[in-house]
Amino acid sequence: MARTGSILPWIAARRAAETWPYARAIASAPGAVTLAEAETFQLRHGLNFATQDYLSLGSHPSVREAAERAVRDYGVHSGGSSILQGRSGLSRALEQEIGDAMQTEEVVLFSSGWGAAFSAVTALVRADDHVVMDRLAHASLQTGAAAATTRITRFEHLSVDALRRALVAIRADDTRNGILVITEGLFSMDSDSPDLLEMQAVCREYQATLLVDVAHDFGSLGPQGSGHIGRTGMLGEIDIVVGAFSKTFASNGGFVATRHAGVRAYVEAYGGPHMFSNAMSPVQVATVRETLRIVRSDEGDQRRAALMTAVGTLRHALTHEHGFTCLGDPSAVVPVLIGHTPVARLASGGVLRRGLFANLVEFPAVGIRAARFRMQVQADHTPEQSREGAAILAEAVSEARETLSQMKNEVRGVEPTSVHQPAVRAS
Ligand SMILES: Cc1ncc(COP(=O)(O)O)c(C=O)c1O
Repeated sequence: MARTGSILPWIAARRAAETWPYARAIASAPGAVTLAEAETFQLRHGLNFATQDYLSLGSHPSVREAAERAVRDYGVHSGGSSILQGRSGLSRALEQEIGDAMQTEEVVLFSSGWGAAFSAVTALVRADDHVVMDRLAHASLQTGAAAATTRITRFEHLSVDALRRALVAIRADDTRNGILVITEGLFSMDSDSPDLLEMQAVCREYQATLLVDVAHDFGSLGPQGSGHIGRTGMLGEIDIVVGAFSKTFASNGGFVATRHAGVRAYVEAYGGPHMFSNAMSPVQVATVRETLRIVRSDEGDQRRAALMTAVGTLRHALTHEHGFTCLGDPSAVVPVLIGHTPVARLASGGVLRRGLFANLVEFPAVGIRAARFRMQVQADHTPEQSREGAAILAEAVSEARETLSQMKNEVRGVEPTSVHQPAVRAS
């Protein structure tokens, strides 16, 4: 216990300097604008680019009605794990609806996306098996892999060639044990996506199983919100799909979807959080059912179009008007590269003082010289709000650069220089 205390003065110093933008609490619904705590715990009103409610469904009247109806009909509590009567008729219906959307027969629900991802890996991978994963895969997948086996290979982000090389090397020595290949539909720190057609083909060639986590793209991208899998014509073709309801679906929970009944049975029996953690509550399930209905409707298309207009305006203003580099492809996640961690930390205080909530992402979530702001856009953001958000970020970053150039020598002394790659991913 003694060693834990040393972190406190560091956090307190960053909080005092308004460079500790973590664990903020909100004081109103997290829409396009919101009221939230500053580092000093005072409440501030501001433009909100820090919430993952990509289609703005958290405030949708029919979603709220569905949630209220579930409270009336079922109460507020699931009362047990899925295996021990924690499911309701609503959960059965949601399993069916996710199966329709993903074109998979078998669906298992979890009370978080984290639990779904961790469980899919740990339920299926044995100690002698191999995990081959994109090196930027989410912490839930990395932790699952580490819990399941020591035989883990991380391949260069998005590279099918690197994946193939890893599979060739493993199969040269081991033709017997399983290989689980792990990637994501949309990487949420970089806003980029893999070539799923190629990856699934390479996996088949080397008797490997492909798992794709669609936490950020399912609902927010692709025809009827089918995500990167849908937009690349791969619905029903991916071995195992893992998803989260915590982004577009305005709730908590997650799922594993597959066409293999055996995989479903294994994930139910050996996915720890399915057996040993309470199921999604009826109000969460009802919320997801109604948001999924909207996601797949014409209204979903309109909301995705509004989202992409806001995203396009934001990326254009950031790059063309203010000279920033936005990483990846247009999606609800707009990663704005700052690079130098001290500049990014100082700017995190500057954006807050000017009335903008935007998440700072620093080492170890990303590389030490790859600090960034992750702006998360909602369908309800107007183009004006996107332009204003970009302008505030630009002012805050230029103020931070100026402040740092005055303090240059002092800053050089404390900046770590040796570590370049992220140690863990979080989002
Ligand atoms: C790729 C990925 N998987 C899983 C999760 C965890 O989802 P949840 O917040 O629903 O637990 C996240 C969260 O951001 C994620 O980005």
